[in-house]
Amino acid sequence: MADIIILGVFVADVAFRAKRQPTIGETLIGEDFKLGPGGKGSNQAVAAARLGADVALLTRLGDDTFASIANDLWKETGVKTGMVMTDPNHPTGAAYIFIDTQSGENAIIVVPGAGMKVSRGDIDSFKNEISTASIFMAQLETSEDTTFYGLKLAKECGVTTILNPAPAVPIPDEMISFCDYLIPNETEAAALTGIEINNKSDASRAAHMLIQRGAGTVIITLGGDGAYFDDGQVNQHIEPIHYGKVVDTTGAGDSFCGSFAHALSKKFDAIEAVRFASVAASISVTRFGTALSMPGRDEVGDYFNQL
Ligand code: ATP
Ligand code: RIB
Repeated sequence: MADIIILGVFVADVAFRAKRQPTIGETLIGEDFKLGPGGKGSNQAVAAARLGADVALLTRLGDDTFASIANDLWKETGVKTGMVMTDPNHPTGAAYIFIDTQSGENAIIVVPGAGMKVSRGDIDSFKNEISTASIFMAQLETSEDTTFYGLKLAKECGVTTILNPAPAVPIPDEMISFCDYLIPNETEAAALTGIEINNKSDASRAAHMLIQRGAGTVIITLGGDGAYFDDGQVNQHIEPIHYGKVVDTTGAGDSFCGSFAHALSKKFDAIEAVRFASVAASISVTRFGTALSMPGRDEVGDYFNQL
């Protein structure tokens, strides 16, 4: 049993920093390289766990070396693993990550691997755990059908639901209506609404459209420009936090989502939870890596309390 249940995947992130990406047929010498833990669901679980949350990940891993990276990470950070299944027929996934050395911005190709094989049956087998959690959070690295089913079940059980609709793909309105909180970034909000997000006014229009399509509250993350909040009554821009020099924005959205879920579970109101999540994410972007860049309870709490 856990207070926060996250449906999602773990993958091994293979991250390269370079001045630019190679074109087809070209080989480039990069600055440096790291192999580390990633996958949006796992990153979000680690973000919440590092803040002290009671959090479990519902996923499948392959029976391989990458799976042992995941198990070591979850043991060290305190993510609960009672809903982690081993799938001997599919490998643990991996992500290619390019990081621009100048801006810290990234481009990613992810192959979710075994995590994509989590099924409706897996969700059903953990119905008891889901129904007694306070928050259920998902992304779109698991199959759309399984994500749909998980959100529906959690919503029917009266559990607060959060969807981070990443990577960017259109989803049906029925799925949006299962979301108490929908947290897309600019690209994902554009994929969901057809509105290109270039400024706060675009974010406001996109958020409003998603509320009309059934989301409870919409929070569009705007990278270094903060976030836009709309719960159907209050709509406002939340200012970004500038904690330090930005070196790697990979996982900023995961830091934000995991911290937001933790803050909600601690009964912050939604706007305070966005501010708390913005502090955590602003710290994560000052460090290289994804899961390993998630800040701890004291550093986020100290900074948040000074604001
Ligand atoms: P990723 O896909 O790289 O994990 P994302 O695109 O899902 O991230 P963003 O919108 O880039 O998510 O960022 C999420 C949050 O992280 C922002 O709302 C903001 O609070 C924080 N953040 C991101 N980039 C910066 C930055 N350059 N400076 C300060 N805060 C940032
Ligand atoms: O959100 C960042 C994550 O997206 C990376 O860790 C990578 O694994 C991809 O899933």
